[in-house]
Amino acid sequence: GSNQMWGGRFAEGPSAIMREINASIPFDKALWRQDIAASRAHVAMLGAQGIVSPEDAATIDGGLARIADEYERDGVPEDWDLEDIHMTVEARLTELVGPVAGRLHTARSRNDQVATDFRLWVRDANDRAIAGIDALQRALVERAEEHADSVMPGFTHLQTAQPVTLGHHLMAYYEMLRRDASRFADARDRGNESPLGAAALAGTGFPIDRDATALALGFDRPTANSLDTVSDRDFALDYLMAASQCALHLSRLAEELILWASQPFGFIRLPDSLSTGSSIMPQKKNPDAAELVRGHAGRIVGATTALMITMKGLPLAYSKDMQDDKPPVFEAAGLFDLCLAAMQGMIAGATFNTDRMRAAAGLGHATATDLADWLVRAADIPFREAHHITGAAVKLADSKGCTLEDLSLGDLQAIDLRIDDRVREVLTLDASVAARKSFGGTAPDQVRQRIADARRALGMN
Ligand code: ARG
Repeated sequence: GSNQMWGGRFAEGPSAIMREINASIPFDKALWRQDIAASRAHVAMLGAQGIVSPEDAATIDGGLARIADEYERDGVPEDWDLEDIHMTVEARLTELVGPVAGRLHTARSRNDQVATDFRLWVRDANDRAIAGIDALQRALVERAEEHADSVMPGFTHLQTAQPVTLGHHLMAYYEMLRRDASRFADARDRGNESPLGAAALAGTGFPIDRDATALALGFDRPTANSLDTVSDRDFALDYLMAASQCALHLSRLAEELILWASQPFGFIRLPDSLSTGSSIMPQKKNPDAAELVRGHAGRIVGATTALMITMKGLPLAYSKDMQDDKPPVFEAAGLFDLCLAAMQGMIAGATFNTDRMRAAAGLGHATATDLADWLVRAADIPFREAHHITGAAVKLADSKGCTLEDLSLGDLQAIDLRIDDRVREVLTLDASVAARKSFGGTAPDQVRQRIADARRALGMN
């Protein structure tokens, strides 16, 4: 037979293919809480405005509350004939309260309904992201504080560059996450307007109160243009783009953890609880959680691309293509929440091998810049010339198979007579990091000040 909800003008019902391609209930049932909350706000407003009688509004509200209990207990039934979560709820409401259920959809369309449900869902996702980032930042700050003066090699091109502290390195990720959190907060604010009342595309002739439904659902205000409202998925893209950028940061940190956990580096041991073994090699402990954070970042960026491409060619207003907005957001949000939690666990639970890091920092002539800087300061040599002299010293150390620090004063003076004994003290790793006390530099004093700022910003202590 033809469809119960919209089949009045149809001679026959949808084909099996139509039912299958049309059904969004397999995924949009995730919106059931939001759908029922929005319907309850809507029917309360219809009652208050006298658009439906107070008795009918109360009957409908009671039915919706009961459906929420059922879904909480038994889950949402999946019937393709009912297409989506909106029709599924309404069909159950009809079973429970009879034909009066048909009054719920007055002054409303599924187009403003789905936009409302989805905004509410994405608002929660933004809130979860902000909380997850906060937890990870706290873990980073704690570990950075423990290691404010643990020396490690700093790299450029993944080649030893200058010594830094582990605390400084960890706080670099704190900064990335600070920007990420502000992107999610911004996405939340911008998306927090109520679509309810835009109806199909043009608004409605019923005397609705959009401010009342907006307020009831925790939105800041109603949206201002009904055509834009039912066509707009910017709020979902804002979330996905914030998640993509944050996922890139998590992926870079994951990549470093993977490198650091490898035997040639040996900088860290990841917690057993976030590692796995090999089915053939008994000695193996693999950094799978970190690898999956790195892998999931790709899927999150892919989901973002998918929704952008869904939206890019659509004329105003609603087109059914937009039903495809939800799977990428649900998928990305699920992966992203996991990535944040896994990373928090790895940072909080990692054991840092600071001896190994210090030893690695001593390789690769990491204090060569300090020698050049010393020549500038102590002997007033122009930096370019100092660079050249230092390069000769590095070459000599390499040919002798020793470090810059190991060269004798005689060796150094054979290169340039202006070098004297005072140079010794600047060539150590600790002197090198301590010297870099410019604002935001790696000197332990600086790092501790930035950690104090971070603790204040996070409300720690
Ligand atoms: N399931 C639909 C979606 O997710 C609901 C909106 C349907 N609107 C329509 N005009 N067919 O987009």
